[in-house]
Amino acid sequence: MKITVAATEADFDHAAASRIVDRICANPRAVIGLSTGRTTGNIHREVAAMHARTDFDISALTLFGLDEVTGVDREYAGACYKMLLTEIVAPLGIKENQFIMLPTRSADFEAACTTFTDELDRRGGIDLLMLGLGENGHLGFNQPGTPFGTGAWKTVMDPVLEARIRRETNTPEGEELGGVTLGIRDIMRARRIVLVAKGANKRDIVKQMLEAPVSEDIPATILRLHPDCEFLLDSESAAAIDIEKLRAL
Ligand code: GLP
Repeated sequence: MKITVAATEADFDHAAASRIVDRICANPRAVIGLSTGRTTGNIHREVAAMHARTDFDISALTLFGLDEVTGVDREYAGACYKMLLTEIVAPLGIKENQFIMLPTRSADFEAACTTFTDELDRRGGIDLLMLGLGENGHLGFNQPGTPFGTGAWKTVMDPVLEARIRRETNTPEGEELGGVTLGIRDIMRARRIVLVAKGANKRDIVKQMLEAPVSEDIPATILRLHPDCEFLLDSESAAAIDIEKLRAL
């Protein structure tokens, strides 16, 4: 298994950002998928800072989001579109057609998911997917129990996250909130994956992801079966694992 442990938070952010920048430099037409959340914000800002310093070619790059909140405007601060726009897309200054997202609202999410994955294929498929890790092992909005064979789909949202978004957006009870996400099958089709996890709150799930049997009960365990997946951790999230033993696997 390829496991990298960064000593400090700055090292972690820089290492993750370098994975993205290296990919863009190797393939200027790269299609790169990003995850939102507490783990990835500074990584995205670091990519923009690296670009400001070195001006690598981003004219043909595609960035996209792994998942999206549904039932809110995409301009809502907690929508993945808005987060990625603020953290990386606007600072890089890439063109509108270089940033593609699943919709927050749609009359037909099934069709929207197909359109989205077809568009990724049309652009050459996913070169690199940066994945965050849910505390229960979820990937994107694929919660425990999601069949590994699932393609992009409209999901039910984690109740804690749903309650928070409802509060923040004053969404009335009758209005449905949810998530839409690439499925585990789409994730596994990415040519390269980097799973990023940091913080003591991820310690238990990092251990399970790397040591528990591969199972739909912990979606992230499937990443061990991917031919090119790196697990990039900080020292806090890696504190419970036997790194040398796992690296030998
Ligand atoms: C949410 C997002 C995921 C993200 C995960 C981890 O569920 N939908 O894309 O990877 O949370 O978030 P955090 O880094 O804030 O722990």
